[in-house]
Amino acid sequence: MFRQLYLSVLLACLLTPSLAFPSYGGHDNKGVKVKFPEPQQYTGPMKIPDRHHPYKAPGPNDKRGPCPALNTLANHGYLPRNGIASAGEIVQASGEAFNLGYNFSVAVSSLAVLSCGNILLDKVSIGGEHRLVPALPGKIDGTPGGLSKHGRFEGDVSMTRLDAVHGDPAVFQPEMYKDLLKFVDQYGDGDIVTPEVFAEYRFKIYNDRLNDNPVLTWHQGRLGFSYGEAGFILNLFRNSETGNLTRQDMTQFFVEERFPENWYRKETPFEFDDIRMAVDALEESHPVRPGKKDVNGMYVVDTPETSPFLGTVCGTYYDLLVPNIAGVLLETKGQLKKNVDTYLDGMFQLFEPYGCPRLYPEGPAEL
Ligand code: HEM
Ligand SMILES: *[C@@H]1O[C@H](CO)[C@@H](O)[C@H](O)[C@H]1NC(C)=O
Ligand SMILES: *[C@@H]1O[C@H](CO)[C@@H](O)[C@H](O)[C@H]1NC(C)=O
Repeated sequence: MFRQLYLSVLLACLLTPSLAFPSYGGHDNKGVKVKFPEPQQYTGPMKIPDRHHPYKAPGPNDKRGPCPALNTLANHGYLPRNGIASAGEIVQASGEAFNLGYNFSVAVSSLAVLSCGNILLDKVSIGGEHRLVPALPGKIDGTPGGLSKHGRFEGDVSMTRLDAVHGDPAVFQPEMYKDLLKFVDQYGDGDIVTPEVFAEYRFKIYNDRLNDNPVLTWHQGRLGFSYGEAGFILNLFRNSETGNLTRQDMTQFFVEERFPENWYRKETPFEFDDIRMAVDALEESHPVRPGKKDVNGMYVVDTPETSPFLGTVCGTYYDLLVPNIAGVLLETKGQLKKNVDTYLDGMFQLFEPYGCPRLYPEGPAEL
């Protein structure tokens, strides 16, 4: 059986030159055209999951990673259960089940494939590496690490995951979550998780990592995601039928990665402006500064000289794209280049209304 497989693979390689000698970006490069779904027609509240999306625990080969929401979507089949998805599938699933705003999800899903997926095949792993998400032809940007890979998307100062320097940053940490529940005891309203819980807990995690991560990297884009994700918990894990997020429901999302019983998605789409307001509100009582530890372990805060557009919306766009995504992607051709451009459009459309200039990747490629 293995011998037969081996022979047919060998034959396929001999007979298909493009397989044996992939040329990057050439016209003979097969690929998949990126396609985003239409925005949802109905954007009101809705019971989730529907009967077509039952919970099933992931199997041993199914990928799961650092995002509790994407893991939940895969456990219910809103995303492919193997954890390998296209950008369009992520937009569809997060809109349908969480009412995440369309423009925001197009931008962040584009960033996901650009940063750690296969752009030619329009695929990204919500966990680690997978054979369905191979390197680009010529391996011009390394082997896609998926969302679990530290650096481009996954980053430091997470709420329920370790910083990469301390362990696998994709794995849920029950001890960190227990700490979060102590903040619910202290700052919540009984079993209801209030914004004060996350204003305090986020600041605590930031201070902990300032103290114990000697290679802390926390620039503006990552800072925004860090606080945005706390805003997601408060606003998108909340049950719109009761109006509240309970500690039990939050635990169900983080521990079982499963929708709670009788759960309703948010009553209106959660748009970029809503996310920005949530971030500002959480940060208000304890302001924090983006920056990075230097070789001596000193936290050096970013300045407008080192970080263009610092402190403006365009600074987030700059930080996530320009130093972060491989510049070599601009030198591609054919379907690969078309997909690169589609994803870059997907990011720009979110920031264009704020007057940001169109920006392009200049970052180093992965090895
Ligand atoms: C739409 C595309 C999305 C992508 C590509 C994505 C990706 C990610 C990634 C890579 C992380 C890890 C970041 C880190 O802490 O280092 C993360 C964290 C997180 N995501 Fe998502 N996410 C998406 C949507 C959502 C949605 C819709 C929600 C909520 C309903 C959500 C909730 C969270 C939360 C709460 C965390 C933080 C976990 C922690 O700090 O321990 N995400 N996401
Ligand atoms: C989303 O983008 C479209 C097209 O650029 C724009 O017309 C619309 O106002 C945006 N929606 C939101 C909520 O920003
Ligand atoms: C949330 O829970 C509290 C306490 O049970 C309740 O008084 C309130 O009406 C609920 N809804 C909202 C939107 O806060």
